[in-house]
Amino acid sequence: MADTIHSRTATLRIEDREIELPILSGTLGPDVIDIRKLYAESGMFTFDPGFTSTASCSSAITYIDGDEGELLYRGYPIEQLAERSHFLEVCYLLLYGDLPSAEKLADFEFRITRHTMLHEQMQYFFRGFRRDAHPMATMVGVVGAMSAFYHDSTDITDPWQREVAAIRMIAKMPTIAAWAYKYSIGQPFIYPRNDLDYASNFLHMCFATPCETHNVDPILTRAMDRIMMLHADHEQNASTSTVRLAGSSGANPFACIAAGIACLWGPAHGGANQATLEMLREIGRIERIPEFIARAKDKNDPFRLMGFGHRVYKNFDPRAKVMKQSADEVLDLLGVRDNPLLQVAKELERIALEDDYFVSKKLYPNVDFYSGIILEAMGFPTAMFTPIFAVSRTVGWIAQWKEMIADPTQKIGRPRQLYVGAGRRDHVEVENRG
Ligand code: SDX
Repeated sequence: MADTIHSRTATLRIEDREIELPILSGTLGPDVIDIRKLYAESGMFTFDPGFTSTASCSSAITYIDGDEGELLYRGYPIEQLAERSHFLEVCYLLLYGDLPSAEKLADFEFRITRHTMLHEQMQYFFRGFRRDAHPMATMVGVVGAMSAFYHDSTDITDPWQREVAAIRMIAKMPTIAAWAYKYSIGQPFIYPRNDLDYASNFLHMCFATPCETHNVDPILTRAMDRIMMLHADHEQNASTSTVRLAGSSGANPFACIAAGIACLWGPAHGGANQATLEMLREIGRIERIPEFIARAKDKNDPFRLMGFGHRVYKNFDPRAKVMKQSADEVLDLLGVRDNPLLQVAKELERIALEDDYFVSKKLYPNVDFYSGIILEAMGFPTAMFTPIFAVSRTVGWIAQWKEMIADPTQKIGRPRQLYVGAGRRDHVEVENRG
């Protein structure tokens, strides 16, 4: 378990009993009450569906301050990294804990670049899907199948195999996502190229064809690389928690990442970037915004303002700020500054941020609010938005998985419950039932 300090205790009084529970402090953020002995001493569980007040682990990778709108990767502010770093350097930082020297960065980039190809037989997995399959379905299947191809990196007890699995996952995800896209549009797979950087390689595999030379626009490369940095890790979000829980049983890393992809797909999580763009398209024009604001506030309407709100951020999502700036730059440089969706998004943000419902519930734009506008302007269909989130988040999933596996105190995750079902009763033969 990462370094924690135990100096105080919390006293829990249950009827005539008192239980002393240690209070643990980390480096930043709220202290925690260590309840690991609570059930043994009280015969009671805590109850926290959705984990709104529960720390599932200790971690040294990412820190979020929801009230301040702060996001740190290994202590470095996301704003500085987005401006001055690049995705593979951020991958190194998240995996190994510090910014690399020039030599270590070059070695890391060399290793990633030379693991971007897939085993040639894996192509047959893509071809088993219908052409109109959602690329996230293909990614879940293909990534899960990696455990059937890369047996020499599935033994989680071997640190070297864990390292190889991490490199393979980060390196191959762009190829898998790009091939899922190519398959969905009936175009041939484009192989990765070792002369291209990570983001350029991904864009090349998505948009090149065998028929002509395709030069990746450096503006798009920079925008894609920044989007990847912004999505790389985010503490114990739903998909990362899924990867940790799957990994806690000793499942191989490819199966754990496949589980994370499945969880990310949901519209309340990584699927929100696709849902946000579809919402903006449905709104269509600024005049219709009040109608949708009213629906978002209506308790009887399941509609929510996609790209708004966050479990942790009760201030601006710092990633949304960077994404908004990037949207302006990319659309400007692509000559689509007056993109109607961007105009609707900006007016929707302005109106929502003045509306008491959103202000009182501290609902701000999140990372998904602007990302889809950039991705659409870059030429991606909405179905590719969440796969791009998955490509970016793979390093976070893997870094958190490695941290958990290396923790000597790690145990299988096995929550309990508050049982509200039928009391004990005996079986009744069918002829004697009512
Ligand atoms: C991501 O966890 C992470 O870190 C995730 C992520 C990451 O990097 O991994 O940041 C990526 O998933 C970003 C979030 C993307 N999802 C969306 O944009 C979907 C729309 N947002 C909501 O579904 C919602 O805000 C959540 C799921 C993001 C957060 O939900 P919570 O924390 O469970 O909050 P809640 O549902 O309890 O909402 C609190 C109140 C409720 O009203 P009351 O019941 O108190 O009256 O706010 C309301 C909600 O109805 N509310 C919204 C709203 N989000 C919350 N009302 C309208 N529109 C919204 N978007």
